Amino acid sequence: MKIKDLEFKKFIPADKIGARVAELATQINLDYKGKSPILLPILNGSFMFASDLMKHLSIPCQISFVKISSYAGTSSTGQIKTLIGHEESLFNQDVLIVEDIIDSGLTIEKIMEDLRGRGTKSVEVVSLLRKSAAREKKIEVKYVGFELKDEFVMGYGLDYDEIGRNHKDLYQQVLAPKAN
Ligand code: IMP
Ligand code: MG
Repeated sequence: MKIKDLEFKKFIPADKIGARVAELATQINLDYKGKSPILLPILNGSFMFASDLMKHLSIPCQISFVKISSYAGTSSTGQIKTLIGHEESLFNQDVLIVEDIIDSGLTIEKIMEDLRGRGTKSVEVVSLLRKSAAREKKIEVKYVGFELKDEFVMGYGLDYDEIGRNHKDLYQQVLAPKAN
C-alpha cells in the first residue's frame, strides 16, 4: 500500500492486535481490582486502541482524552509542550495513560512530569507499541502490547502525515533497498 511517498506492507493483522489488547485489559483488570482508574488516551493516535481496550475493562473506570499541544515558547528555549483537554481534577486519582506508540520517549516523559504536579495517586502507562529507543532509555511503561525495533508503522489509529489512521491492521514501512 502506498501513502504519499512511502510504501507500506501489512505488519500486525487486526485479529492479532485484538487478542493482545484483550490480554492487556485482563492484566489491567487484575492490577486495578478494587480501584477505579481514569484512562488518559493521548490524541490522536491512541483513539482506536483506547476504545478497544476499554471494551475489555471490567473495573469501574473513567476516560478523558488529552492532547499534547506544541507551540513556540516565548523564550529562546524553543518548543514547549503542554497537556491540554482534561478538565477533571486528577488529584488522588489512579491515572492510566493510554499511548499508541513510544519512540524516543520524550512525549511520555513530558506527560509524566506534568501529571506528577497534580497530586495523582498513581500514574502508569499502557502503550500498544514501543520502539527500541524507549526500551534502551528505560522509560517506565507498565503495559506494552508489542515491542518494535525502529520501523515506522501506521494504521490502527497511527498516521503517516495524518493519513492511514483508518486501517484496522498495522502496517510497516517497506524500506527501499540500499543503492550501492
Ligand atoms: P516520542 O516522543 O518520540 O516517544 O514519540 C511518540 C509519538 O510520535 C507517538 O505518540 C506518535 O504520535 C509518534 N510516532 C512515533 N513513531 C511513530 C510511528 O512509527 N508511526 C506513527 N507515529 C509515530
Ligand atoms: Mg501519539
